[in-house]
Amino acid sequence: MLPDYRPEPFVDFSVKANADAMRTALSKVGDELGRTYPLLIGGEHIELADTFDSLNPAKPSQVVGSFAKATVEHANQAVEVAATAFETWRNVAAEERARYLFRAAAVMRRRKFEFMAWLVYEVSKSWAEADADVAEAIDFMEYYGRQAIKFGGPQPVVAYNGEENELRYIPLGVTVVIPPWNFALAIMVGMTTAAIAAGNTVVLKPASASPAIAAQFVRLLVEEAGLPDGVVNFVPGSGGAMGDALVDHAKTRVIAFTGSKEIGLRIFERSAKLQPGQIWLKRTILEMGGKDGIVVDETADLDAAADAIVASAFGFQGQKCSACSRAIIVESVYDSVLKKVVDRTKKLTMGDPTDPKQHMGAVVDQKAFDKIREYIEIGKSEGRLMLGGETGDPADGYFIPPTIIADIAPEARLSLEEIFGPVLAFIKANDWKHALQIANNTEYGLTGAVFSRSRERLEEARRDFHVGNLYFNRKCTGALVGVQPFGGFNMSGTDSKAGGPDYLLLFTQAKTITDRF
Ligand code: NAD
Ligand code: ALA
Repeated sequence: MLPDYRPEPFVDFSVKANADAMRTALSKVGDELGRTYPLLIGGEHIELADTFDSLNPAKPSQVVGSFAKATVEHANQAVEVAATAFETWRNVAAEERARYLFRAAAVMRRRKFEFMAWLVYEVSKSWAEADADVAEAIDFMEYYGRQAIKFGGPQPVVAYNGEENELRYIPLGVTVVIPPWNFALAIMVGMTTAAIAAGNTVVLKPASASPAIAAQFVRLLVEEAGLPDGVVNFVPGSGGAMGDALVDHAKTRVIAFTGSKEIGLRIFERSAKLQPGQIWLKRTILEMGGKDGIVVDETADLDAAADAIVASAFGFQGQKCSACSRAIIVESVYDSVLKKVVDRTKKLTMGDPTDPKQHMGAVVDQKAFDKIREYIEIGKSEGRLMLGGETGDPADGYFIPPTIIADIAPEARLSLEEIFGPVLAFIKANDWKHALQIANNTEYGLTGAVFSRSRERLEEARRDFHVGNLYFNRKCTGALVGVQPFGGFNMSGTDSKAGGPDYLLLFTQAKTITDRF
């Protein structure tokens, strides 16, 4: 019998043994940086002369790994191979499929410090953020493995005399998995293993900024968990150059994407077009951006609200779809909350995250650095710069200090557009009603939080604050698998609720069978 699912506990780095284990892992992984990684298609490692580098954002001269750059031909080959492997994998029993996930979760748990170390080097996560990412990856595998078993057999239907009726969830086929770099391990693992657990085969195109952590995971799945050849295929490369080929292929059955609104919409549109030889409507699971707000009213615990705003805005440099990028504060407590948030933010440290004292590392790459700086300039013209704003030479690391801009109008660009960096807009609301109205005024609908002691207002927000993940009197980041199923409304995507009881079903189709005796 399997133990019940429970979220993986976080590591306490104040315990010397844990801090030592992390230092050892950083040293071990440090020695492995700069290696070259091939494609993996149908169990065959394919080395290519054309490669691209993944760089350490805190030290861009350091190459984390070099990756064979898949072409359109490789993309097509990977889909064909995955389609062949599907003919076998779809008949493997759900329990057996789940065991590959449980084994992979167990191995990752044993090697968790190593996986954290890769995240520190490749995407500049602090130790705590890296730990949360690895814990979430383990959770996805434990959770989806159990879901696969639950949905693996006949599902209950109403009995009917003279017949045996059953409903079964069967897999769909080749699933193209396109993850983002920000939860570089967790989201990539979640989408990949959900597809596999449901009986599909996968073509995984990792994000270009985080292929090294994906390569470690694929190696774990294949070499340590023993996943059969062709069930997962690894094709790093430019999304712009070969992403369309993966999406367009007639044998692609499902596309599981998490990333920006722009690319999500592109995939939505392209996948709707029937290709020659295609005999199905492609299933798309598209999780996209956010512009998430924390509302604070005059009845709230203002210290707790300030703590939550700082944690939600600047954790992992604000590069979470769930991050608080707008603090919406009612007028009577606006100055007070602003001061508390500025004072707390001043205490945050920023630097190379191999050092455990740093709260914040660098932003992911030069493109992100440039985009965030542009938004800071826009913010300066739209509001009052309270903190941050100045950056150093990106050659020394893509560091952007936590930046707070006050007095942003509800319709300003800083209030409405996703920045995806450590930039927080403060917006003044006339009163509670106005605050709730501002909270709903973006095209997104991913996370949100309310700090209030008024039950009546919390109940109003429960009904009318239109986001997929709503939190009362706590931060708006850090959803736990199984506890807070995660996904958003409107331009935040298809609300697929990763880590939720229905998620695995998105990778299946239901078949009803009637046997009349
Ligand atoms: P992105 O859209 O730039 O890239 C996402 C993935 O799409 C990458 O793997 C990229 O290589 C690939 N891609 C690029 N062009 C493609 C194409 N033409 N066809 C197919 N694939 C293509 O996003 P990102 O910068 O990696 O991630 C940040 C974004 O992700 C933010 O908007 C953030 O809010 C969002 N995000 C959302 C969630 C959620 O659950 N809603 C979670 C994490 C991140
Ligand atoms: N699941 C992540 C969070 O809640 C995105 O922060």
